[in-house]
Amino acid sequence: MAIIKPHGSDELNPLFVYDTAENEALQKEASGLTSILVSSATAANAVMMGAGYFNPLTGYMNKADALSVANNMKTTSGLFWPTPVLNLVENAGSVKAGDRIALKDPNVEGNPVLAVMDVEAVEEFSDEDMALISEKVYAPSPDEAHPGVDAFNAQGKVILSGPIKVLNFSYFQDEFPDTFRTAVEIRNEIAEHGWKKVVAFQTRNPMHLAHEELCHMAMDRLGCDGLVIHMLLGKLKPGDIPAPVRDAAIRKMVELYFPKNSAMVTGYGFDMLYAGPREGVLHAVFRQNMGATHFIVGRDHAGVGDHYGAFDAQTIFDNEVPAGALDIEIFKADHTAYSKKLGKVMMMCEAENHTKDDFVLLSGTKVREMLGRGEAPPKEFSRPEVADILISYYRSIAK
Ligand code: ADX
Repeated sequence: MAIIKPHGSDELNPLFVYDTAENEALQKEASGLTSILVSSATAANAVMMGAGYFNPLTGYMNKADALSVANNMKTTSGLFWPTPVLNLVENAGSVKAGDRIALKDPNVEGNPVLAVMDVEAVEEFSDEDMALISEKVYAPSPDEAHPGVDAFNAQGKVILSGPIKVLNFSYFQDEFPDTFRTAVEIRNEIAEHGWKKVVAFQTRNPMHLAHEELCHMAMDRLGCDGLVIHMLLGKLKPGDIPAPVRDAAIRKMVELYFPKNSAMVTGYGFDMLYAGPREGVLHAVFRQNMGATHFIVGRDHAGVGDHYGAFDAQTIFDNEVPAGALDIEIFKADHTAYSKKLGKVMMMCEAENHTKDDFVLLSGTKVREMLGRGEAPPKEFSRPEVADILISYYRSIAK
């Protein structure tokens, strides 16, 4: 029996076409269909729907659903969902409702067909609609550019909605053969391990000591059988550390510092939205779909710059997610850092009689500068083996 039900249905319904004959027939059919080259975000949405992470969605949202999700975190039919899942284009050309079209992948050489779509509607967002979605979903601070809002606005305003069938997982299986997983695969692996209580950790960064300890704390306090480290493998903003480097660093940390068979190192094919609280909720939805019973949300989860309060991605679960909307439980973590007084990593709110100076706190910029100079951060901040991998990366890009 499944340990936790997927979101919105009893069984997981991935949109990937697993039947080989049907998949081949659709690929053949696609070569004769009108095709459109989709945005990277649209392609990532297809990969997530194909992999079962966006269960129970059956395709791209129409205008009414996208606006309803932006405003109320639910579709017009009442399904709880935190972020619009869209196929936006600048120009639909001759595509009209009722057409079957092929969606071409912008992220793979030669732009192969990623999915086949039955177009139910071709609509357009007004400038006001676009602004409303940005405001509600990304909630950007007016003083700073927002990489998620920029990516959203760059796609166009024409909405193609309707069900899809997904034919492959883009570049993720080839580039990350050991790490990329579908929600179906993670559910199966959890069942094979016999784990009943499973906590998931979202990350788009290498894991330093605080992240490692956060995972240990969550496992211990919740009494979990297993941890699924689930890293983003899709597109990030410039300057973020590429997925293969993060992957290597995380694998090294797990090999050295976690008991055997207690942690799975996995990843998913999605572009970062940098939507802070709303993305935190989306993260919880797709961790439930992959079979995790608990999900860690710490400081500035899915944040960028100064757009969000450090714990906005936690309070949204208390203030805006209706009771019972999700079965997965949130493990809320306070700012976690090494206490020089106590000689261990602590949640700061649990360290009595401490001031900020009692902790080893380094900004991301400072850490990047150190690594760029070939200097390992202090061992109270980074495992030396993890620092070595990151230093090699920074050396390679300095050449
Ligand atoms: S994220 O964009 O994927 O959320 P990141 O990889 O930095 O970014 O963080 C992964 C998870 O660890 C998030 O839940 C984040 O809130 C949490 N986190 C990162 N650093 C800390 C910290 N020092 N204290 C508490 N939580 C943290």
